[in-house]
Amino acid sequence: MTSPLLDVDRLEKVYLRTHASTGATTRVHAVRSISFQLQSGEVLCLVGESGSGKSTVGKMLADVVPPSSGTIRLHGQDLLALTGRERDQASLRIQLIHQDPFAALNPTRTVAQSISAPLVIHRHMKAKGPRMARLAELIESVGLSPAREILAKYPHQLSGGQRQRVVIARALTVDPEVIVADEATSMVDVSLRVGILDTLKRLGDTLGAGFVFITHDFGVARHFAFQQRLAVMYLGAFVEFGPTELIVSNPLHPYTTMLLSAVPLPDPRKNRTRRRLRPLGEEIPDAADATVGCSFASRCPFATDRCQVEPPALVDVGGGHQVACHYVDRVAEETRAYRTWA
Ligand SMILES: Nc1ncnc2c1ncn2[C@@H]1O[C@H](COP(=O)(O)OP(=O)(O)O)[C@@H](O)[C@H]1O
Ligand SMILES: [Mg+2]
Repeated sequence: MTSPLLDVDRLEKVYLRTHASTGATTRVHAVRSISFQLQSGEVLCLVGESGSGKSTVGKMLADVVPPSSGTIRLHGQDLLALTGRERDQASLRIQLIHQDPFAALNPTRTVAQSISAPLVIHRHMKAKGPRMARLAELIESVGLSPAREILAKYPHQLSGGQRQRVVIARALTVDPEVIVADEATSMVDVSLRVGILDTLKRLGDTLGAGFVFITHDFGVARHFAFQQRLAVMYLGAFVEFGPTELIVSNPLHPYTTMLLSAVPLPDPRKNRTRRRLRPLGEEIPDAADATVGCSFASRCPFATDRCQVEPPALVDVGGGHQVACHYVDRVAEETRAYRTWA
């Protein structure tokens, strides 16, 4: 059997947080034992509230931060076992699209200089003629035109939406095999978001790359991961994972129902009268606080004594739909009345 494009196994990240005044350190368990596989042309969407560990997963995939444990394999090759130049080359194959296009682009460089930097550094293409043609092609592929004009501009001469598209083009320069887009539309005006999402989606379809799409917005996740897969993250772990349509039509983790019942409906009158499943307390607990049982127990209206002490495993309930909850059947029954988003 051939290896999957991307194979992530029990990936973990523990940060050490130093208290500013006392100097004491606490362990922040940002990512807890995440495993998934991705094939070429597939999309996996990570969705969850701020602090759930989504960006840390993206950074580990793109080799921006080292995992505390676990493995990342690309075509069967263990990337974390590589060192030096081999590691640098391998890390180019997984490209991260940054959520902040201001931070990602050098203000003193033209668009051409910014997006050709990876080509020059990694000697993909030395001659200037073919390079400019390739850059123009990249710029057009992300929906910017006229390409020659855009390439000559500096970041401050572009709109927010154009800047974000340039950052996307730069990630594509090295023909990545996996693209990780972290909140790629969060800094862009709402009116431009759909266009950029559509561009990303089209690129995902045409490039044949694997796509890890990260968002805190379940509405966006649903749109982007249509007919693909989705993972709901809470405090560093997948609590529900599987085909998007199965999860949206039949969410089995109470947290998923909470997120879905909070997505605004197209008809604002219905928003006022719909039922929302709310957590017990709006705040996510601190990832530094140790949990013994289910990490969601402190906010879960259905939690029992068992949930406080015994962590639920992520279990397949059929069709690749996986849920980490001791009371899947009961929760499905009791949350049915809240499924107002369909
Ligand atoms: N460099 C860091 N040092 C210490 N803690 C961090 C660091 N980066 C992230 N964290 C913590 O890790 C957890 C997950 O963060 P992050 O991956 O950014 O989540 P998300 O992208 O879902 O908002 C949070 O509790 C955050 O405070
Ligand atoms: Mg983030």
